[in-house]
Amino acid sequence: MKKRILSGITPSGSALHIGNYFGAVKPQIELQDSGETYYFVADLHALSTVQNREDLERNITSVVLDYLALGLDPNRCVFFRQSDVPAHSQLAIVLANYVTYGHMQRMHAFKDKLQKGVSVESINMGLFNYPILMAADILLYKPYGVPVGEDQRQHVEITRDIAEAFNKKYNKEVFPLPEPLISKETGKLIGTDGERKMSKSLGNIIGIFADEEVIKKQIMGCFTDPNRKRATDPGKVEGNPVFIFHNLINDNKEEIGDLEIRYREGKVGDVEVKEKLFAAHMRLFKGARQRRQELESNLDMVRGILKEGAVKAGKVADQTLDEVYRLIGEKNKLNQ
Ligand code: ADP
Ligand code: TRP
Repeated sequence: MKKRILSGITPSGSALHIGNYFGAVKPQIELQDSGETYYFVADLHALSTVQNREDLERNITSVVLDYLALGLDPNRCVFFRQSDVPAHSQLAIVLANYVTYGHMQRMHAFKDKLQKGVSVESINMGLFNYPILMAADILLYKPYGVPVGEDQRQHVEITRDIAEAFNKKYNKEVFPLPEPLISKETGKLIGTDGERKMSKSLGNIIGIFADEEVIKKQIMGCFTDPNRKRATDPGKVEGNPVFIFHNLINDNKEEIGDLEIRYREGKVGDVEVKEKLFAAHMRLFKGARQRRQELESNLDMVRGILKEGAVKAGKVADQTLDEVYRLIGEKNKLNQ
């Protein structure tokens, strides 16, 4: 039997960046060939931060088109929207009873807010409960693995804890414990600031589908070796964001090798290194950028893909929900 894989992405911003791509989307796309894959847009999760109708609609559309353009193939995976499969919300209500308030308080997303000085009065319950809905998303499909970036590891871990608590309570292996599938090399890609992980909320991203000028600006503004003042100073390649990006994006390995040698010797300026990175970006994502434009004018087809995906996902999800309802006693002789 093929191993089942599941992952989702929250449409909380307008477009994917290369951190999302190399950390999550690319591995997810590659897994399409090795397992039975379920990928979805976590539109209900987005409500914890996006509470404007037009913004939500734009974000959802954007991430759906981004994914399809980057190579998600509806013939090889089931692609759907979370809100189209009601079992996600239903299982979340059930699972909330098998995790404690204390455990939930230790979740990073919540703790980070508190640490930043945000008062509990302004943290909505959607954000606090986020990991429970995510556990429901995952467990409904009983996947073997969940490909995500490093920042989602804790969410997969709490999912395992909830699954274990539930299995133990009813003395049955209902939920297999899912493995986080996180790339060592690209699970936490550095941002253009050279300090923190690339994240849309930090403004340190390199986009994929943004206008050429925007991407060029993002690349040209990228931090390099902070100790190098002039192009004639020998520079450091290791840990230098521009070279990290080159190694991921640039298909011309000879060019990278040459740039690295000259950089170490102080024989190349930052501008040339960055211009070559920009050119490599345009080469790598040319096809995806074209496909995205085509998809944009073919929304009927996209609607069809999501509709079909929801039907297929719904079958699996409803089966698990039914199993759970029977086991816990919600489904009994009065309603079956
Ligand atoms: P962002 O931090 O930009 O808001 P999301 O939280 O929407 O990104 O993440 C979407 C997916 O991309 C998740 O699986 C996440 O782990 C992954 N991801 C996000 N940023 C990075 C990064 N800098 N490096 C690797 N993976 C990332
Ligand atoms: N939290 C994930 C993100 O921010 C999205 C997500 C929601 C998810 N449910 C999931 C990922 C289930 C993997 C499995 O991108």
